[in-house]
Amino acid sequence: MIDFSNVTEITNIIKYYLCGDSDIESLFTAARNAREPYYSKRVFLRGLVEITNFCRQDCFYCGIRHSNTALRRYRLDCEQILQCVRTGHELGFNSFVLQGGEDMCYIDDNGDIMADIISSIKKEFPGCAVTLSMGELSRESYQRYYDAGADRYLLRHESADNAHYEKLHPLNPIGTSLENRKRCLYELKSIGFQTGAGFMVGSPYQTIENLANDLVFLNELQPHMVGIGPFIPHNATPFKNFPAGSVKLSLIMVALCRIMLPKAMLPATTALGSIDEYGREKAISAGANVVMPNLSPYEYRADYSLYDNKLFTGSEAAEALSAIKKRITDIGYTPDLSAGHHCEIVKS
Ligand code: 5AD
Repeated sequence: MIDFSNVTEITNIIKYYLCGDSDIESLFTAARNAREPYYSKRVFLRGLVEITNFCRQDCFYCGIRHSNTALRRYRLDCEQILQCVRTGHELGFNSFVLQGGEDMCYIDDNGDIMADIISSIKKEFPGCAVTLSMGELSRESYQRYYDAGADRYLLRHESADNAHYEKLHPLNPIGTSLENRKRCLYELKSIGFQTGAGFMVGSPYQTIENLANDLVFLNELQPHMVGIGPFIPHNATPFKNFPAGSVKLSLIMVALCRIMLPKAMLPATTALGSIDEYGREKAISAGANVVMPNLSPYEYRADYSLYDNKLFTGSEAAEALSAIKKRITDIGYTPDLSAGHHCEIVKS
């Protein structure tokens, strides 16, 4: 039994599996087995709609950061988002993720544009799950979106170590801080959202202790979902010259997270699929149980460039659903297009 409140112990375990002669396959087997009682061999598919690449934040790693003036900015309106969801629903999806930068145009305390979008989706597709991923907002905004029908919210904590967090994010007047991230995550949980946190692996200045600390934080938070993917440099960011995170370390972190949180929804991330052709299959074999194909309008996909060479065609695109399903069945898993709630959530 690993003590997931002990940073030193977790650090040593990560280092052990990173070194060449460890039995890493036994770690992956333990991780695969940990999910079986709750989700058997199911891999849940969610349709991802990247609703806006405007962002008020300026995270040093991210290609859609505010200071990137080279980027063509776009924002989908309610009807465009509904069209994406309709296309996805026709393909068979019953779970949709609306992700975007922190674009204040949706988040109007009076206008409730986002609340309208959520309730329109829920009205047209009542049984479908809606996940939001649009950053650090006020408790009031989160509550409005929950009341409008959103089921889940993803907000990666990025790093649970203050000093490391500050190396990844500028100190800025809009209040970005690890403390605020944590406040958001605990508020989202208390409002009733299935809540997701997560972090990048191999982000600049990250140590193995930092990664161990991320698991300790997640063990405290007990999120319903955890997104873990490698850092990948983006050419128009201050971190353009840093190397990408490693596939092996990313898989170790997915596996340890699965062992720690056997009931969590863990995506095989696009970032992992972008640096390794079989990255997502490897993540599933290390305990991941979610894949999020892209449903964004084709003309905007290249503009949602969080990092260089991000996948958005081929087997990443939702239109290639049969290819995605085959890749999942080929490794012995079962694609699942239901709403795919966390196993402890009972929906009436
Ligand atoms: N490399 C990998 N992941 C990134 N993200 C943002 N920029 C990068 C990058 N350069 C991740 C962040 C964010 C999520 C939406 O994408 O962790 O939370």
